[in-house]
Amino acid sequence: MNEQNTQSNTASSASNTVPSDKNHLILTGDRPTGPLHLGHFVGSLRNRVKYQHQYQQFIMLADAQALTDNMDDPAKVHNNVLEVALDYLAVGIDPAQSTIFIQSQIPELTELTFYYLNLVTVARLERNPTIKQEILLRNFERDIPAGFLTYPVSQAADITAFKASLVPVGEDQIPMIEQTNEIVRRFNRLAKRDILVEAQALVPEIGRLPGIDGKAKMSKSLGNTINLGATAAEIKAAVKMIYTDPLHLRVEDPGHLEGNVAFIYLDAFDTDQEGLQVMKDHYVRGGLGDGMVKKRLEGILQDMLAPIRERRQEFEKDRGQVLQMLKQGTEKAREIAARTTDEVKAAIGLKHF
Ligand code: TRP
Repeated sequence: MNEQNTQSNTASSASNTVPSDKNHLILTGDRPTGPLHLGHFVGSLRNRVKYQHQYQQFIMLADAQALTDNMDDPAKVHNNVLEVALDYLAVGIDPAQSTIFIQSQIPELTELTFYYLNLVTVARLERNPTIKQEILLRNFERDIPAGFLTYPVSQAADITAFKASLVPVGEDQIPMIEQTNEIVRRFNRLAKRDILVEAQALVPEIGRLPGIDGKAKMSKSLGNTINLGATAAEIKAAVKMIYTDPLHLRVEDPGHLEGNVAFIYLDAFDTDQEGLQVMKDHYVRGGLGDGMVKKRLEGILQDMLAPIRERRQEFEKDRGQVLQMLKQGTEKAREIAARTTDEVKAAIGLKHF
């Protein structure tokens, strides 16, 4: 298995084995704010295609969470629900194997959030490292939307509603899992029995792909992505622009691999790692131009993305059918979330009839 796993925040609860059977439920999801790109592919999508055969997998379009910092543009979030669903189908996530659903259509998730909010303090939310960093990044300071500050609690609701034991996420989301598990423990103590289930984060080995400009993260807002639906011409143009080694001025100069995005992408996508090693050695020795490296990379990306693009175009022809699939997935997911919500409400005295 090529993923490390981390669990909660105590050494004693950490484990080095990833369980693999259909009793384990995976919950994962994305904020639908734009088209998915190679960073998503490496960080999550390609694992989901694999996981769907090993576990019960639920994949959530987190539109309600996306609004916590996009309330000024709800149409963007609305439209991207279907776009991201198309990306899922295009990469091979199979609705017969994975349940794909829309967060906002399950009111129980909002309901659970409201109760869980009483199990965390504002101080704890402000200490969440991911939230802290995002506040800085977005210049929110004290003007942070309350919904944004509390989205880790909403995420705890998502995860616990399904009693998910495994949550595949990028490294930056680990604090969310830790906070979820704190809520789980606090709730179970209150309920005097283990109603909610602690979750384990599954972090991919190559968790983060740099942008084509060499910045640490590929991200739509940085404008340094290669989208999964990119045309052949877009892929070609992006590869041309990829950041390599600024010290590698002449072909005969020795090149550097560290921070060299062309090689980082080759590490992630080249299936001929032996051939790649030969190319790396040559590059480091000197005498190999960036053009040759980029040519190899472009070929690999074109071959990898062409079938994804074609499948996407096929599914795009019948958006009604995609919506129908989402509706069915959401109905199935809601049944599970409603069952957990009933248990939670009963445990905290919110059941009267
Ligand atoms: N916060 C996640 C992200 O930004 C999306 C998300 C929402 C999620 N709820 C979740 C991921 C529950 C895993 C489990 O990518």
